[in-house]
Amino acid sequence: MRCIAGLIVFTAMVIASSLEWVVAIGGGKAGTWELLLNNAGVVAMHMTLTHHNTVIIFDQTEAGPSGLPCTAASSDKADCWVHSIEYDIATNTFRPLTLHTDTWCSSGSFLSDGTLLQTGGNGSGSRRIRKFQPCSDKQCNWVELEDQYLSAERWYASNQALPEKDRAIVIGGQYNQSYEFVPKSNPDEGVFDLPFLKDTKGDNLYPFIQLSSDGNLFIFANRDSILFDYKRNKVIRKFPKLPGTGARNYPSTGSSVMLPLDHADGFRRVEVMVCGGGVNGSYREARKNKVFRVGQSTCGRMVITDEEPKWAMEKMPQPRLMNDMILLPTGHVLVINGASRGSAGWELATSPLTKPFLYKPDAIAGRRFSSAKGTAIARMYHSSAILLPDGRILVAGSNPHAHYRFTGVSFPTELRVQAYTPYYMDPFFDDRRAMNLTIDGGAGVVYRERFGIEFWMGRRPGVMEFHAYAPPFATHSTSMNQRMLKLECASLVREMSGFVRAMLVAPPSPIVAPSGYYLLSVVNGGFPSKAQWVRFIHGSNA
Ligand SMILES: *[C@@H]1O[C@H](CO)[C@@H](O)[C@H](O)[C@H]1NC(C)=O
Ligand SMILES: *[C@@H]1O[C@H](CO)[C@@H](O)[C@H](O)[C@H]1NC(C)=O
Ligand SMILES: *[C@@H]1O[C@H](CO)[C@@H](O)[C@H](O)[C@H]1NC(C)=O
Ligand SMILES: *[C@@H]1O[C@H](CO)[C@@H](O)[C@H](O)[C@H]1NC(C)=O
Repeated sequence: MRCIAGLIVFTAMVIASSLEWVVAIGGGKAGTWELLLNNAGVVAMHMTLTHHNTVIIFDQTEAGPSGLPCTAASSDKADCWVHSIEYDIATNTFRPLTLHTDTWCSSGSFLSDGTLLQTGGNGSGSRRIRKFQPCSDKQCNWVELEDQYLSAERWYASNQALPEKDRAIVIGGQYNQSYEFVPKSNPDEGVFDLPFLKDTKGDNLYPFIQLSSDGNLFIFANRDSILFDYKRNKVIRKFPKLPGTGARNYPSTGSSVMLPLDHADGFRRVEVMVCGGGVNGSYREARKNKVFRVGQSTCGRMVITDEEPKWAMEKMPQPRLMNDMILLPTGHVLVINGASRGSAGWELATSPLTKPFLYKPDAIAGRRFSSAKGTAIARMYHSSAILLPDGRILVAGSNPHAHYRFTGVSFPTELRVQAYTPYYMDPFFDDRRAMNLTIDGGAGVVYRERFGIEFWMGRRPGVMEFHAYAPPFATHSTSMNQRMLKLECASLVREMSGFVRAMLVAPPSPIVAPSGYYLLSVVNGGFPSKAQWVRFIHGSNA
């Protein structure tokens, strides 16, 4: 059931006026770019949003001098250069954080209290487990655990937060074709072999993982995918190979999302989408001969919960690799960053693609993609992008070199931070936008329970949707743990003043939504409000 805040006639108005706004708004449908920081000090190899509305950005510690020498307060044991920062969205400022071991090509996920659980890296960091518990007083910092280590070295592995409270799985990596849990259920648990990773060797680093609606994991590596029961170490089903002329995981490096799950079908139907990547042989060609092959332009979509799942293929406006894929608050997908030729890796790509692609999953086939406005800044290897609570996209990083290099190279190390503002945030739409959203929920909302929200809805209320979004841990075009839920609205009352009170229903289980912080936005006739945080928690007897 959908909650309608006004007369049904408002819906018709939204549709009828969709042509008029294309010409009326400033940046048109293409959106706008702004430069937020000229020098963030470190490359955003890894980037993630905390529920304190700050962004944790970090690089590797082996890259040598960064753009920010350390101070006494932030001495990075490794070399006294800063390799990690916390960016504060509201003030557009940042402070240095301290890392002691190498986080190069590592992975992460969140715990139920919003603490970042971060794992692996290279060398000194390859078996480390780190935590960052966000705070309001700017005193918090990385904690590298001394009493808990990974059982195997995890370099280029992927993480998924599991339905079991505060438990994550870490899968794969360069050195070990296995998986393990953090924390372990007993000290001797060790690692579990995953032969699928041996079978897909070559381009299977940073595998794409999604927690499916039956509690099993969808794991995609190279061109293959499986549904995997991690509790019994058992492959439940093998999906067809993704068509195309190459692999999709590192170093071919395409990207993937799970499309929004919907309360309307009990959150059962799960559809994944994989886009772009390098063509077969592009890594070798770029390394050996400095020949940069044109990447893949196809995307595949597959409903993994179907009886007979099949990939449906479609084309992006241009070939693209090292692209990030972000679920927008509207439920659409943004494909951003990357290049059109070559491969992931040092000095292995050319032809940056600076225009994001906007994708509308429910539009008719062939009319889903459009190109948005570009920027002058190339975002190549070791760049990243994440969604911010207000609906903008934070874009940072790019460094296809072993060390920071600012001159004498085609794609200098990039320390500038930008925001891309999609069309839906244009003030022209403010009269359709829910404002001043507040959420009742206090310490958290238990699964299946109802919770109240309140917002002000101006002149043009229409069909309203309520989207809860788990922010990803972004690195190497992989947005770990990103998921969106279209929540059920049980009731909605709009007062004459324009204030609306609605009762929403929390997701039914931690399989649908692993416990933790989600961004909630009200989407009215396709236009999202600024999001507020809501925490989904296990009940006291769970
Ligand atoms: C990091 O990984 C590379 C492999 O590319 C290895 O050669 C290097 O020694 C590692 N660094 C450390 C400190 O172990
Ligand atoms: C993975 O690491 C474990 C623990 O170090 C080791 O026992 C196992 O042999 C490794 N497997 C592979 C395939 O490297
Ligand atoms: C990619 O190229 C390698 C080496 O030429 C070949 O063995 C492999 O079958 C190719 N893979 C695909 C998917 O075409
Ligand atoms: C919404 O919040 C803003 C800023 O706090 C405030 O100025 C404005 O009056 C509020 N709008 C309504 C309708 O209450």
